[in-house]
Amino acid sequence: MVKPCFIFKQYHVLVKVTVLMLLLSLVLHLLYSTSTTNITHSSVGGVTSIVTTEEVPFLKEIVEAKKDDDSVEEIQENPQQNQVLHKGKCDLFVGEWIPDPLGPMYTNESCNVITGDQDCMSHGRPDSGYLYWRWKPRDCELPRFNAARFLDSMRNKHWGFVGDSISRNHVQSLLCILSKVEAANDVYHDEVYRDRRWHFPSYNFSLSVIWSPFLVKAISSQGFNGGAADDIQLYLDELDKSWTDQYASFDYMVMSGGKWFQKTAIYYENNTIIGCHNCTRRTDLTEYGLDNGYRKATKLVFDFLSNSNHNASVLYRTTTAEHFENGNWDTGGTCDRKIPFKQGEISLHELDIKLRNVELEAFENLKTARYPRKRVVLKVFDVTQLSLLRPDGHPGPYRNHHPYAKGKNAKVQYDCLHWCLPGPIDSWNDLIMEMVMNG
Ligand SMILES: *[C@@H]1O[C@H](CO)[C@@H](O)[C@H](O)[C@H]1NC(C)=O
Ligand SMILES: *[C@@H]1O[C@H](CO)[C@@H](O)[C@H](O)[C@H]1NC(C)=O
Ligand SMILES: *[C@@H]1O[C@H](CO)[C@@H](O)[C@H](O)[C@H]1NC(C)=O
Ligand SMILES: *[C@@H]1O[C@H](CO)[C@@H](O)[C@H](O)[C@H]1NC(C)=O
Ligand SMILES: *[C@@H]1O[C@H](CO)[C@@H](O)[C@H](O)[C@H]1NC(C)=O
Repeated sequence: MVKPCFIFKQYHVLVKVTVLMLLLSLVLHLLYSTSTTNITHSSVGGVTSIVTTEEVPFLKEIVEAKKDDDSVEEIQENPQQNQVLHKGKCDLFVGEWIPDPLGPMYTNESCNVITGDQDCMSHGRPDSGYLYWRWKPRDCELPRFNAARFLDSMRNKHWGFVGDSISRNHVQSLLCILSKVEAANDVYHDEVYRDRRWHFPSYNFSLSVIWSPFLVKAISSQGFNGGAADDIQLYLDELDKSWTDQYASFDYMVMSGGKWFQKTAIYYENNTIIGCHNCTRRTDLTEYGLDNGYRKATKLVFDFLSNSNHNASVLYRTTTAEHFENGNWDTGGTCDRKIPFKQGEISLHELDIKLRNVELEAFENLKTARYPRKRVVLKVFDVTQLSLLRPDGHPGPYRNHHPYAKGKNAKVQYDCLHWCLPGPIDSWNDLIMEMVMNG
């Protein structure tokens, strides 16, 4: 199948020999694993599903190498190999939510870091069906997060989560899952608990969360809580020091941005105003476009990571879908659905399309000459589609404590953006584990 002379003609560099060796092991492994593929039929809620539990570790490396290195593409010209590559190629982010009788890995009782606004159980959410789904990539199995294995392989490591409140939401989920193995010590927090760090003593594993919703330098006289005031100043050519100062201490970083760019803000470059987004009072300023602002920010971030001497693995998370229906967060929007959508039943909002396009574009740009082959491992953590399919996983009215205690008709503001804990966001950790352990 593999023709060494064919390949050697094309590649003379040592690196390419490695690719060949991987390919050979792949073929051997495939032969082996095909014969040991287990097919188990399981009946879940009357639906019979076929689960194949084959593990093809080398394949993923090949596929990664192919994605990362254009020069490996010639291998695909051999149709037979093309088939092989396709067989095991698995896009973790394309799939559907399927019933999961196992349910969540923790409860509101076992985890004490769930903040009130995401603690749907304690806040009286009556239904629990939303807890019994798991993400199933179309072409492979996604193993459940293994907290003991994760902690064991993260000994002496430091993870940083950088972003907005959804990032914090994600960290809480991870902490809850890990707490089944060891409770973390709270070793640092700022006065408003936005920047925090935890330490798992038996593993010397540290986990930090850094509040940086724009990723670039942002100044606001109202502490970012102001409504429509044109007072957020964004410096599109300066990164936010709150994360860059700590970057060198991270072995892994999960970062995200985007949503906050919908806020009214004045954009600066070279300390000069270059435009504005949705300014109502400063009519002298021209609209710059939130996507243009976010594009500058992501480019700055990717440049920084690529030029840094520090070698960290960075997962850049794409925008997550919100599910307000019949209004927005501030105009009585709701999200009362109880089950996931199927592929094609819902499409992304315009804002999320814009943000995601900027994100995917930033990854496309990594392939250009601007970014020479570098040491930083930068991967797209593409949760947009899988989050879009979970309208049922938000706190909704249960961001408030027992919102209907005073009657069914109480007027309650919904949260259709963040996620209940436990909830669908727990699956993000299954994905992260797969990406860092087997990616
Ligand atoms: C956890 O949620 C249940 C409802 O599912 C509730 O009865 C219980 O009080 C909650 N526990 C805590 C510690 O809030
Ligand atoms: C604990 O981990 C940190 C990195 O997160 C490292 O700098 C430190 O040396 C480790 N401590 C021990 C005792 O291994
Ligand atoms: C612009 O700001 C106004 C409030 O001043 C708000 O109602 C509107 O939704 C904003 N538009 C966008 C696109 O953010
Ligand atoms: C900012 O300065 C750089 C170099 O000094 C220049 O290339 C760029 O065009 C400037 N940008 C603006 C908006 O003036
Ligand atoms: C950088 O980190 C990646 C993944 O953590 C590792 O595979 C690679 O060998 C590292 N490179 C250097 C030069 O340290």
